[in-house]
Amino acid sequence: MNVHLASSSTLEKVPAALRSWLATPRPMLINGKWVQARSGKVFEVQDPATEMHLATVAEGDAADIDDAVRAARNALENGPWGRMSPSARGRLVHRIGDLILEHLDELAQLESLDNGKPFSVARVADVPLSADMFHYMSGWSTKLEGKHIPISGLAAPGQYLSFTRLEPVGVVGQIIPWNFPLLMAAWKLAPALATGCTVVLKVAEETPLSALRLGELLMEAGLPDGVVNIVPGFGETAGAALAAHPGVDKIAFTGSTEVGRLIVQAASRDLRKVSLELGGKSPNIILDDADIDAAIAGATAGIFFNHGQCCNAGSRLYVQEKIFDKVVSGIAANAGNIKLGVGMDPATEMGPLVSQVQYGRVTGYLKAGQEEGARALTGGTRHGERGFFVKPTVLVDTKPDMKVVREEIFGPVLVATPFKDADDGLIAAANDSIYGLAAGVWTRDIAKANQIANRLKAGTVWVNCYHVFDSALPFGGYKQSGWGREMGQAVLSNYLEAKAITSRIA
Ligand code: NAI
Ligand code: MG
Repeated sequence: MNVHLASSSTLEKVPAALRSWLATPRPMLINGKWVQARSGKVFEVQDPATEMHLATVAEGDAADIDDAVRAARNALENGPWGRMSPSARGRLVHRIGDLILEHLDELAQLESLDNGKPFSVARVADVPLSADMFHYMSGWSTKLEGKHIPISGLAAPGQYLSFTRLEPVGVVGQIIPWNFPLLMAAWKLAPALATGCTVVLKVAEETPLSALRLGELLMEAGLPDGVVNIVPGFGETAGAALAAHPGVDKIAFTGSTEVGRLIVQAASRDLRKVSLELGGKSPNIILDDADIDAAIAGATAGIFFNHGQCCNAGSRLYVQEKIFDKVVSGIAANAGNIKLGVGMDPATEMGPLVSQVQYGRVTGYLKAGQEEGARALTGGTRHGERGFFVKPTVLVDTKPDMKVVREEIFGPVLVATPFKDADDGLIAAANDSIYGLAAGVWTRDIAKANQIANRLKAGTVWVNCYHVFDSALPFGGYKQSGWGREMGQAVLSNYLEAKAITSRIA
């Protein structure tokens, strides 16, 4: 539990070139040019481990969003992008993935400094997964096939030729959060580019840096000017302006359910297309015939990976009575052994929460939970004197109506509840949430696992594993966890319009 406090000691661990990149005020990318905000405003980015200044970034608002949307429209309709062959477009998207891997360490360092997550994790997870998203999506560019559809032609069958053509939806506004800054940019940009759209990307104010560096790599890859525009700025200004901009054909949003609702309202005036990837409060269910050691390890990672700042975190644990004490004490022991520290320290296993605001939210839930009668088996408080560190926490003695059981905490806090039998009551408890993003089931009985999986209202169910993501697998939510799916073939429909063309041939 060794926390380094000085930002200088953190920055010492990154190469001089990156230090000097960070020391230069970072502009935004509009129409292929790196520009300052029209207002001239900038905002500060903080290192959440030390609470010290990390970088200064141009602060976009409605005027810059307007410039960016115009650039994206022009690139879509008048630039080389719209005339590029699917094969050339695919190769370009693939090249972006290559460039990400060529800058693996640098991007992982930026991610660690900006978000607080361990460099060692960003290097094996965030950055390679981001590259893979571009590599995977690049293959779709040449496979966006419509269908020949035989129609009955009313009284004249055989007199018509009908087929569908899949066309890019157009100019896409994308708004992303801070928990996986580079990966969220990749999840959004890669399918939009593969399908031939143009983009205005509004990055999170907490973590704009890796996406801005990615913007430089996009230009290096040879993306035509204006195809991707990246505007850092605040949600209420830049984000709201993008969601309401009449020049945008489609909005793709990842973030809170609360802001998801605002996005839908803003898009409703012109009935713009919307896809949403929102919050979760995912149940992780352990039956008494499970491989208990694997389940304890999986449930530990299920909640504490990325400091619990995952929309799909396995934050509600349901354990069969007979093994409840053994499982929760195993998870609590693991939690107590997690090394908290600065992300750039190789010994660190868990960093700080992303910001003062998130720290306030999470510690507010810890207080509310304990006031309502939940008991912390481990954790329950902040860690250290400085930085937004919260100890990994396991809460027991919970009741279904407690705030900590019902609401998304988005921090390293697990709520654990015992159950007697794997019956309707268990399914009802697991589904008793406004959310439906993910779920886990642990049992050696594969039939039982699949029966439960079929009945869970969740977009992803993991059996005897957790957090297994793949570019090829669709991800998204039931209920208030969102609209539509990210990744896999499924995401393509977010960015395509199907046009039915019918010719009379008789
Ligand atoms: P947020 O939803 O406010 O922020 C996400 C993105 O939306 C950011 O880019 C932000 O600038 C933008 N935004 C905020 N207000 C906006 C508006 N009025 N119009 C357009 N864009 C807007 O999330 P925040 O405040 O960072 O976190 C709050 C809670 O949301 C977290 O505690 C967590 O529960 C949840 N969350 C869920 C995420 C997910 O992956 N599904 C990611 C981040 C947060
Ligand atoms: Mg917010």
